[in-house]
Amino acid sequence: MAYVVTDSCRGCRYTECVTVCPVECFHLDAQMTYIDPENCIDCGGCAPMCPVSAIHPSWQMPADKIEWVAINRLRAAETPVVNAKLPPLPGADEQAKGLAS
Ligand code: SF4
Ligand code: F3S
Repeated sequence: MAYVVTDSCRGCRYTECVTVCPVECFHLDAQMTYIDPENCIDCGGCAPMCPVSAIHPSWQMPADKIEWVAINRLRAAETPVVNAKLPPLPGADEQAKGLAS
């Protein structure tokens, strides 16, 4: 199981999600965050925090986002933990408007 960050995060990386995770599941690279499926306890706290709705439970993935289950597992193993909010990436708000339209 576990929650999964999808490509809607890429280029935004608001990191609102990492502030609520009780078990430090989130990892990040220069573009986005990833959830470590080995640590996620399916609490569901992160998904509603994301301004661009980038996070979905692995058992309710949109059909065109299924690949992100494996990508999160892979990239979480390769990247450092993030457990505090960071500034969004430059251009995040413009990208978020595009995702909403
Ligand atoms: Fe963390 Fe809960 Fe989100 Fe899993 S569902 S990543 S435990 S906040
Ligand atoms: Fe990304 Fe949304 Fe978190 S944009 S960093 S999944 S708040």
